[in-house]
Amino acid sequence: MSTTSESSGTPFSAETYFATQLPPPNLDQDVSRVREFVKRQVKEGRRVVLVTSGGTTVPLELNVVRFLDNFSAGTRGATSAEYFLKAGYAVIFMHRQFSLQPFSRHYSHSTHPFLDFLDVNPADTDGHQISVTPVEQAQLLNVLTTYKKVHQTGVLHTLTFVTVNDYLWLLRAVSKELSVLGRNALFYLAAAVSDFFLPRQKMSEHKIQSGKGSLHIEMDQVPKILKPLVNEWTREGFIVSFKLETDPELLIPKSRTALSRYGHQVVIGNDLHRRKFEVVFVSPANSTKPLDDAQPSNFVETWIRIDPAQDPAKEIEEDIVTELGQRHDAWIHALGQ
Ligand code: PMT
Repeated sequence: MSTTSESSGTPFSAETYFATQLPPPNLDQDVSRVREFVKRQVKEGRRVVLVTSGGTTVPLELNVVRFLDNFSAGTRGATSAEYFLKAGYAVIFMHRQFSLQPFSRHYSHSTHPFLDFLDVNPADTDGHQISVTPVEQAQLLNVLTTYKKVHQTGVLHTLTFVTVNDYLWLLRAVSKELSVLGRNALFYLAAAVSDFFLPRQKMSEHKIQSGKGSLHIEMDQVPKILKPLVNEWTREGFIVSFKLETDPELLIPKSRTALSRYGHQVVIGNDLHRRKFEVVFVSPANSTKPLDDAQPSNFVETWIRIDPAQDPAKEIEEDIVTELGQRHDAWIHALGQ
């Protein structure tokens, strides 16, 4: 399939995108649940963080058989959500369907399947009893207790997306709902969002047939959603985006460019291979705008590192969330002046 002849060559603006692409079918229902959740958190005086997590897909057909995907298991998002809850935030966890989730992530079917630590014990009466292997009990008790408490207090709300289209519609709708929180809202955009997509107007209705030889697809650029997020949808929220690179040399320059382009508060740079033990916070040195990304003195870089050899159980997300909590505090208090 070739879409070259239909391409306008001009990237979609966010406005054109939402005027031409259809919303996901359950958007209204999702939004009204978020509204209720946010209302309750405002009443109870909590800050709210929106954590986005996991990769987005780009379907190639309307009756989708094939799609492109972005790398992300959802570890960063799911782990961070737990530390935000621990720090007293209410969390909206917006994640790719079937990617890792807070609490259940400890028992992922691929790395730590729960059937492996259950034992079947003969019972006194008919049937059998199930018990947890002693070595797993302490951690399970800890995870389960926190999980139950979080659900009882109603401080975790979960939303799912699959495609980049679902993600964009949801992000716009949820960020508008969060705007009632003003500076008490934090955005933690850890999802791996596709940069390219196939507009539905260009998609084949049915499965692309393989008989015609090689496949040529020209994709359009996904609008950079951080721009309207910062300027229109949520003017006061504290916004943190992530930058993933595989070339370490690009991490800081690309993070600076993102900050100067979108004008938000922090970019967390992470290298694909070092992301579990090293990240860099890049932020403006002061609030002067516009930021020139060619001027290094306009930016401050703060590295966070952990040493897995010293403490294998330590998760870098704990330190990321502590640092962000302090910065968010400062952001809220700066408004009062
Ligand atoms: O889940 P894990 O396996 O633990 O991996 C975590 C991670 C490496 C995926 C995560 O830490 C990370 O780096 N996430 C962002 C990766 C990414 O998509 O980078 P980007 O350069 O495409 O986007 C940068 C930022 O802009 C992101 O915060 C994204 O949410 C946002 N974006 C991207 C595209 C777009 N059209 N609009 C956006 O707002």
